Parts: sequence; structure tokens; C-alpha cells
Amino acid sequence: MLFSHLKPKLKNILANTQKTKEHLLTEVCELLEANVTYYDWVGFYFANHTEKTLHLKAFAGEPTDHTVIPFGKGICGQVAVSNSNFVVPDVKAQDNYIACSITVKAELVVPLFKNGENIGQIDIDSNTADPFTEEDERFLEWVNEEVAKIL
Ligand code: SME
Repeated sequence: MLFSHLKPKLKNILANTQKTKEHLLTEVCELLEANVTYYDWVGFYFANHTEKTLHLKAFAGEPTDHTVIPFGKGICGQVAVSNSNFVVPDVKAQDNYIACSITVKAELVVPLFKNGENIGQIDIDSNTADPFTEEDERFLEWVNEEVAKIL
């Protein structure tokens, strides 16, 4: 499905004030995982800045053991300190990478900002090699901006 078609659906999900934030975030993950063919795992991690750790709050796809990730570790942990998108076309080429599943070939992590602070991130795993373009980055930046509004 085109990103332009997903945007109104995502806004619809986030507009529901009856559900918990965790529930809404899970629905966002499910929407993306179900509708973008090369998004095989989608999750939101949020930072504990005191402990310098990331914590998985919502996801769609296979459950992962990596629900807590220290800042600096793996692709996610690096984004917690770099504040920049991290596109990984081939996870095998990365030294500082935490494998969640042997089927994953590529990963994209985009930081989530609230009032200018990097408070978390959206993490996409793909079983397709080198699937991500700038269109994915712009779309996921938009997703994070929308999510930040309800946090
Ligand atoms: N691969 C990530 C860890 C999280 S899993 O993809 C769910 C990383 O290297 O940070």
C-alpha cells in the first residue's frame, strides 16, 4: 500500500482517545507491518535517559528477546546517541548489530523527537535485502512526528 494511503489510516488510529498509548502504538506497528510488504517487524523503543537504556513498548511481528537495549549497542542503541536515521541495507556488514532473527536482512531505525529531545525510535526489520529508500525515511519521520503528538 502507498504511504499516502497509510497516512490517513495512521491518523485515524492515533485519534482514538479511548485506548492506552501502548495500544495505539501497537496498532500503528500492526498497520505498517501488515501493509508494507518489506516491513517484517516494526517496533517502538523508548529511552530511559537516566539508565541510558532503550525499552520496547510496542511491536508487530515475531516477539524479540531484545526488549531492553543499552545506549550505543546495536543499530537501535547507536541511534539513541546519534539522533540520526540509520539505514542498514545489509545487516551482515554491521559489526555493532544485535540480531533478533536470522531471517532479517536489512534494518531502518528513525529517532522519535518530542520537544526537540530524542525520546525513542521506530525500528523496522526487513527480510528483503536493501529495500529502503529515502521515501521510507521521510514516511517514518512523519509517523514519528504524529506519534510524538500523543505522547
Ligand atoms: N537489530 C536491532 C535490535 C532490535 S531488533 O531488530 C528487534 C539492533 O541492532 O539494534
